[in-house]
Amino acid sequence: MTILITGGAGFIGSHVVRLFVEKYPNYHIYNLDALTYAGNLENLNDIVNKPNYTFIKGDITDENFVNSLFNTYKFDGVIHLAAESHVDRSIKEPLAFVKTNVIGTMILLNAFKKCWSHNFENKRFYHVSTDEVYGSLGETGLFTEKTAYDPNSPYAASKASSDHFVRAYGETYKLPYVITNCSNNYGQNQFPEKLIPLFINNIINNKPLPVYGDGNYTRDWLYVKDHAIAIDVVFHKGLNGEMYNIGGINEWKNIDLVKLLCEQMDIKLKRPKNTSERLITFVKDRPGHDLRYAIDASKIRKDLGWEPSVTFQQGLEKTIQWYLTNEEWLDNVTSGQYQSYFKNQYN
Ligand code: NAD
Ligand code: DAU
Repeated sequence: MTILITGGAGFIGSHVVRLFVEKYPNYHIYNLDALTYAGNLENLNDIVNKPNYTFIKGDITDENFVNSLFNTYKFDGVIHLAAESHVDRSIKEPLAFVKTNVIGTMILLNAFKKCWSHNFENKRFYHVSTDEVYGSLGETGLFTEKTAYDPNSPYAASKASSDHFVRAYGETYKLPYVITNCSNNYGQNQFPEKLIPLFINNIINNKPLPVYGDGNYTRDWLYVKDHAIAIDVVFHKGLNGEMYNIGGINEWKNIDLVKLLCEQMDIKLKRPKNTSERLITFVKDRPGHDLRYAIDASKIRKDLGWEPSVTFQQGLEKTIQWYLTNEEWLDNVTSGQYQSYFKNQYN
């Protein structure tokens, strides 16, 4: 099998690439990534010389280039993760999200269709999406695969739009697809603009921890390697035309999560108790901030036998330890452009 993984130099993509390269020596894995600010080849240093792995630098919105790749390599499967992924950036620059997340997905769908529409047998287009397409929950309830789409941020709207196109290609052209909608991931190699790595980095550097609004927003956190395992399971066992929700069954209010993180960081850094908690600063809320996300993951558990393998405590411990032992990685990604993003977002 030849498999194209898009966005494989990013956070989740790099874990998916590693898992597939190591677990399936008979597959050839092509990692297509534009290496935007969020893409980092250092994430894949350990597998770069594997014979079944090839990195291709390129942009999914470049139609001629994407078509030529399909002509050359005839990818049997696509696992599509490339995206602009940060909600705050989508509020400042929504068009960039439409370009990559909607147009980029369309270009991949068209290339896949052109390549295989004479015979889709044993082919698969796997679209990796998010629970944010469902909008916001109140204090109770869970997102199921039947929850109506109701996206609130430009990021969520762009992902919802791309999901609709994938589904439409399934209905109209019989393109064999699966979609998964996952909750918040955390773990090693996440770019420090997202809550957990941003706060770990700020604690290390004794900088304020900017909690949006009153901090009473809830997210359902999943360890990134468990997401990668779920993608493997759905890619191989999921049914065409199906959507599967993936979640951590692990809800935390932001403020409680941040306090737990502060406690663990004080222990790891051997700082007196409450040192990090004093850095918490309540700042202006994110516009259109979704109150709560929480996933009902019973379909993927019952139908495909997947469930999270690590507890939040274990996953967070591994994550903190990774950032502390990889300070060079953190320093590299937080130099240059990151400084101006940080000033602009939080000043
Ligand atoms: P990320 O921002 O860390 O990585 C995105 C990757 O895509 C980067 O390597 C970047 O260089 C690449 N990319 C961006 N634009 C590109 C383009 N035009 N052409 C080619 N490559 C491009 O994102 P992530 O957090 O790893 O998310 C990966 C996917 O999973 C996204 O589709 C996202 O919507 C989805 N998702 C993320 C989460 C989460 O919590 N992070 C949860 C659910 C779903
Ligand atoms: O739910 C899945 C989604 O999770 C993915 O699709 C997105 O790609 C991913 O970025 C993530 O979106 P969130 O907006 O939930 O993640 P983020 O880490 O940006 O924020 C988590 C919560 O923390 C959210 O309620 C906003 C809050 N927050 C975030 C930042 C960056 C703060 O309070 N302060 C901050 O500085």
